Amino acid sequence: MTNPLANKRILLGVTGSIAAYKAADLASRLTQAGALVDVVLTESAAKFVSPLTFQSVTGRKAYTDADLWGGEGHVTHIGLGHAADLVLIAPVSANTLAKLAHGMGDNLLSVTVLASHCPLVLAPAMDVGMYSHPATQANVEILRQRGAVFIGPEEGRLASGLVGLGRFVEPARILGQTRYLLSRSGPLAGRKIVVTAGGTQEPIDPVRMITNRSSGKQGYAVAQAALDAGAEVVLISAPTALTPPVGAALVAVKTAAQMQAAVLAETGDAYALIMAAAVADFRPLPAAQKLKKETGIPRIELEATADILAAVSARKAETGFPKFMVGFAAESQDLLKNAQSKLERKRLDMIVANDILAEDAGFEVDTNRVVLLFADGRIQKLPVQEKSEIAEAILQQIIAWG
Ligand code: CTP
Repeated sequence: MTNPLANKRILLGVTGSIAAYKAADLASRLTQAGALVDVVLTESAAKFVSPLTFQSVTGRKAYTDADLWGGEGHVTHIGLGHAADLVLIAPVSANTLAKLAHGMGDNLLSVTVLASHCPLVLAPAMDVGMYSHPATQANVEILRQRGAVFIGPEEGRLASGLVGLGRFVEPARILGQTRYLLSRSGPLAGRKIVVTAGGTQEPIDPVRMITNRSSGKQGYAVAQAALDAGAEVVLISAPTALTPPVGAALVAVKTAAQMQAAVLAETGDAYALIMAAAVADFRPLPAAQKLKKETGIPRIELEATADILAAVSARKAETGFPKFMVGFAAESQDLLKNAQSKLERKRLDMIVANDILAEDAGFEVDTNRVVLLFADGRIQKLPVQEKSEIAEAILQQIIAWG
């Protein structure tokens, strides 16, 4: 399983909007994600940005209206339309929305859309007055009713200097939406997977806290891999600097107690729980007021937090949910022995063990070196890999159990 954009034919339509230059970034991101991107520019789009720009970032021919009447003649649009797994028009102008809504085919892009049978995704960009105009709104409604998916527009500053609804959604987000849309028929479609990520924060007083070095990267990568496999993903996250993957329902928590409440609330009907979070094992009893120097060096008493996986396991013994439980073990010594004992104690189906003292593994870095231990005694050593690849390997196991 790779990401759902890999080897997909994306027909990227670009129309006459000042945001057309951002479409080059989008084409580049789609290509880097493994998609085969065929760009079709309208005549006015080509005034903002040249076909050569797109050809350079996609490594494929970028088409203009000249190709409609050119050498390959009438087959170009039929070929492009039939080959596409997804048609994405970004940015789409008011003019092209009107053409699509009324089934017109007066340029290469509009005839290609008519010839296609795949999902149509539209990311509008135009001035606020043009977008809110009743004609445009009626066209949006027609297209929506016909199944087109809209990404944006957003509120914000527009090229005219006005502020309002009409701004092109950032390419990174359009990429995420596209990835999400293409993943929905994956092997875990319809299954709910709860993923936890990040390091919990336990307050000492209103200013200070105890936390840990977890960046959340591995957990967020697991959430993305679960989405890629088609699952409905709930991401229960302690604070991180990361952007949640598009399509995940984010539950933001801070403390271990909040994480436990969220995990119990979400896993009652879940297919799998993947606990990648670094949960505090001890917490202070927080002071109501800021601790002051004048009162001397404080002694911070700690108490144990509840073991979240153990609590979920106990409930699972009665209800059967979640069907599968995966834990992580971050160890600085006796990796396999400690991981094995956690696997048994927490009654997990699999534990992902990593040696946090290895340089290419553990906290903050983008790679990880893990060993998977299973309830049936199997052990699988994975090579040093990107956290995204480790996440895919974890999801492969969950798919295999299905
Ligand atoms: N975990 C949990 N609840 C806690 C602490 C940890 O559910 N209060 C989960 C983690 O998310 C992880 C697994 O348990 O998936 C193992 O976490 P770890 O901190 O390595 O294990 P501990 O049970 O805390 O054991 P130890 O302190 O002995 O290392």
